[in-house]
Amino acid sequence: MTTSLHYFVANEGEARRLASALAIACEPIDVRHFPDGESLVRVSNASPVALLYCSLDHPDAKLVQVLLAASALRDGGAKRLVLIAPYLGYMRQDRSFTPGEAVSQNVIGRLIASAFDALITVDPHLHRTPSLDAVVPGIVAINVSAAGIIANAIAAIVGTDTILVGPDAESRPWVEAVAAPLGLEVMIGAKVRCGDRKVEIELHDRQRASGRPVVLVDDLISSGGTLIACAGQLLDAGATKVAAVATHCLANPDDLASLAASGISPVLATDTVPATVASISIAPALADAIRAHGLA
Ligand code: R5P
Repeated sequence: MTTSLHYFVANEGEARRLASALAIACEPIDVRHFPDGESLVRVSNASPVALLYCSLDHPDAKLVQVLLAASALRDGGAKRLVLIAPYLGYMRQDRSFTPGEAVSQNVIGRLIASAFDALITVDPHLHRTPSLDAVVPGIVAINVSAAGIIANAIAAIVGTDTILVGPDAESRPWVEAVAAPLGLEVMIGAKVRCGDRKVEIELHDRQRASGRPVVLVDDLISSGGTLIACAGQLLDAGATKVAAVATHCLANPDDLASLAASGISPVLATDTVPATVASISIAPALADAIRAHGLA
């Protein structure tokens, strides 16, 4: 079966890189808005296997357009419909932490499962959920790791004495997966979140960083507060240099400026979310996963 890839303009560069890696057709999705803001979506040339590329940062506006495009691709003849959402929003709220709160992960996961046959995403934020299959019941769920791509990308900026530091227990799998191919030491902290932009980090063995370069590794940069808190402690402990790398960067320009002012340099991320620091293409890892599952 032939495969086509369909994208919204916000992800044009990333989608084109993926289509090029797969040597498949790449079609833009037209979106126009009625005066009240309602979206009208138009797709073209759906193949029997249609890949819809839409990273779900800022998801509230995007989810409606994704559902409309999915329906149009089905109507256009797609027999197998795959959502490629390199960043999958709404994964943080995986339980009702306070009475009355919606469990957003379940709601959005079921919505995606109702419209697609498969979901491909990268390093989803599944801290308490056992697997991506549980998020999108009944469809194929493909969880792509960015660790190999990140390890390749930072190989040029690390030395044999570099320590890779994860801010909290949840980061350990990412940090160890990046460190393993590079043969580097890891250090893992403990984190307490006090608010959307405020965290307390404890790096018990930070003295190990004295006189050594450090790379902070995390799945997500949101406000940047976690990385800034880590960097302060490591520089105080005598680290010679602090860089940072993450799979996803959601930080706004002010937060990126704060990261730069904190002494972290460089800050790197994959292009799962378009950002000035998103210089590492995730396309090769996505292409491998798509081929491995016979989708192109
Ligand atoms: C949390 O569990 C994540 O892995 C990140 O550490 C967190 O989302 C980063 O948020 P921020 O950049 O706002 O500190």
